[in-house]
Amino acid sequence: ATELTSNADLKGKRVLVSAGGTLEPIDPVRYIANRSSGKMGYALANAANARGAQVTLVTTKSDLPVPRGIQVEKVVTAAEMEAVLLKHFPTADITIMAAAVADYRVAQISSQKIKKKNETWELKLLKNPDILKHLGQIKRADQYLVGFAAETDELLKNATDKLLAKNVDLLVANDVSRSDIGFGADENQVLLLRPQKDVKTTPKVTKERLAHKILDEVLSSSK
Ligand code: CTP
Ligand code: CA
Repeated sequence: ATELTSNADLKGKRVLVSAGGTLEPIDPVRYIANRSSGKMGYALANAANARGAQVTLVTTKSDLPVPRGIQVEKVVTAAEMEAVLLKHFPTADITIMAAAVADYRVAQISSQKIKKKNETWELKLLKNPDILKHLGQIKRADQYLVGFAAETDELLKNATDKLLAKNVDLLVANDVSRSDIGFGADENQVLLLRPQKDVKTTPKVTKERLAHKILDEVLSSSK
């Protein structure tokens, strides 16, 4: 199943995928963003769709093509993404949190454009809810949850901490300090971590191929 062909090993499964970076508005003309391209999430949604799953994609992106048959929910902020994911989560067999959720939002969104009258500007930010951690807390035994970790250093240590803290079944750890893989790149190389299991390192492959490898890992480790 690692080939980019469609075999129907996810037929009958509902797969929920989040993709892209959330945007947190500051005022009507400005927002806080991050470098997520959405490619990994879209590749996962496409791969699951090709393998026969019923896919819902919750995404901040509108510039990437979506194949017919995938249900797309467009969101902007982390709060919107959480609400839409919580709506679909109860019926999902497999949930994959590939989105880069903003860790903070602006405390007071201004309804008017903020003028540049001052030499400095301090923006107060509030921590966003951790959507993946929330899903890890409410997931049932028959649900499979996949998280990502974006790290610039101490990849294995930070990823292991997230695997446990967020109660996920599979954690995909990304080294985002390298420009040839990770954010924006077409290829990726990751560590795959599961509770009480040895870490696996994937080869550097296209995000499409990696998506299939991640789904292979999900299928081979789900009950
Ligand atoms: N995530 C989430 N909600 C947030 C932040 C992150 O659901 N508010 C999810 C991401 O989608 C990803 C995982 O948590 O699947 C890890 O995201 P990452 O940014 O690597 O870790 P954080 O827990 O946010 O910690 P930090 O950014 O401080 O490393
Ligand atoms: Ca984060």
